[in-house]
Order: sequence, then C-alpha cells, then structure tokens
Amino acid sequence: MKEERNENTDGEMLPARLMAADAEDLYGRAMKMMWSVVNYKDMQMTYSCALREIKTKFDVLNTEFNIKYKRNPISSISTRLKSTESTVRKLISKNLSVSVENIEANIFDIAGIRVICSYIDDIYEIAEALLKQDDITLIRRKDYIQNPKPNGYRSLNLIVSIPVFFAEGKKEVNVEVQIRTIAMDFWASLEHQLKYKRQTHDQAEVVARLKNCADIIARTDAEMLDLRRKIEQSHDAPTEEDELIERLKKIDVRMD
Ligand code: GTP
Ligand code: MG
Repeated sequence: MKEERNENTDGEMLPARLMAADAEDLYGRAMKMMWSVVNYKDMQMTYSCALREIKTKFDVLNTEFNIKYKRNPISSISTRLKSTESTVRKLISKNLSVSVENIEANIFDIAGIRVICSYIDDIYEIAEALLKQDDITLIRRKDYIQNPKPNGYRSLNLIVSIPVFFAEGKKEVNVEVQIRTIAMDFWASLEHQLKYKRQTHDQAEVVARLKNCADIIARTDAEMLDLRRKIEQSHDAPTEEDELIERLKKIDVRMD
C-alpha cells in the first residue's frame, strides 16, 4: 500500500505519521513555553506582593515616629520589580539558565524597595526597627555608609526575607532594601545615569569628580545631623506635660 505523504515547511515530503509526531512535539513545546510564562508571571506577582508587605512595614514605622516624635524619619519610599531584561542578563552573567527556580535561588534583588531618610541616624534606627520584627529574616547586610565603595557610593543595603500569605500557604520571599539619605540618593541616581553616558577619554576625571561630590555630600550629611542634634540639645528636655501636649497636638494627624 502506498504511504500517504505530506509536505513539511521546507518543502520536503514526509510520511503523515511523522508529521503527526512533529505536531505533537510542537504542541508539547508550546505547552512547556506557556507554562514557563505563567510560572514567571506568578513569580513576579509573589515578589510584588512581598513589596506591598514590606512597604506597609515602613509606612507603619513612619506613622509611629510621626505620632510619637516631632519628625518624619522617612522622606520617601519607592519600590520596583527588576525588569525581565535585567533579570535574564544577571542569570547569564552568573552562568545560569533562565528558570524561575534559578531566579528564586540566585537573584536577591527581583523585589527592591528604597527608603529615603532625612538624617544618617534615621537610617540605622529604621533598619533596626525593621530587623527586630520577628517575621523578618536578615539574609545579607552591606553597610556602604561605614564602608563606602571606592567610587563614593553610600547606602545601607539589606537582603531580607519576608513571609507572604496566600490561600495556598505561606511563601518566604527575598527583598532588597536600600536605605539612604536624600543626599546619598541624589548622588547615587546621578552616578547611575552618568555611568551610561561616561565617555572614555575623560573617564578618570569623571570618576574623580564624582568621588569628590560623594565626599562633599557625606560631609553635608554629617554636618546636618550634628546641627539637628545641637538644636535638639539646646532645648530643655521636655517635661511629661510637654510630651502630653505634643501628643495631643498630633491626635488628629491622618493615619491612613
Ligand atoms: P548587584 O549589583 O545588584 O548584583 O548587587 P550586589 O550583590 O553587588 O549588592 P550591592 O549591595 O553591592 O548592590 C545592590 C544594589 O545597590 C545595586 O543593584 C545598585 O542598585 C546599588 N548599587 C551598588 N553599588 C552602586 C554604585 O556604585 N552606584 C550606584 N548608583 N548604585 C549602586
Ligand atoms: Mg541590583
């Protein structure tokens, strides 16, 4: 009996049973690819929920400070999910294949939160208040304020893990936390922009001037903290009555 033949995409003739096997294989691969996409989206959703959880923790701390004391230690908070392009680049640089498992086990900054404080001492107070919480686990701590990078970068960078509760159960999720002053953030964001524009012929000069700016900024931060402390000390320690009046004044502060 003559075997039925079909033309494949290259114009060659193939037996029909081979075509069926090819179609099955193609379908199998498409299914696998679609599952990867779904799992990746699920992973992103998990990290974005972790960001919401940790942001709430910082918002709560800020509200508490605001009610108890006269100042807001946190000037602003921003969050971001690492872009797919940057995630893939990082996996490749670590010689790892692209998979959700590899991302979860090896990349710690998929979820990032940046907390900007007014003064240097606020950074440590806020970090300590976060790390004291019993559902937060510290994975890694890099203090680039005590030990600035050679280029002048200053920031307190933490990797923490935080539980996120889903209908199916609890998942521990890694989040990168960067805590720095307004001045340190100003420097880091400009340096980040300039990194991509840097020209080779004057690179050494750019590096040296950036380092100089970082030093000036560090001195300004130290001076502002010193000034604040001096002003605080020049006022008599508040009496219990003063404190009560201060708290009463704050009673109508919006808490949402
Ligand atoms: P990656 O660089 O993300 O792989 O992190 P790491 O494992 O080297 O940790 P590190 O704490 O050194 O850096 C974490 C993040 O801090 C980076 O992703 C940047 O967002 C920021 N950062 C670190 N170094 C610099 C720097 O020199 N300049 C600027 N602008 N940002 C930096
Ligand atoms: Mg990073």
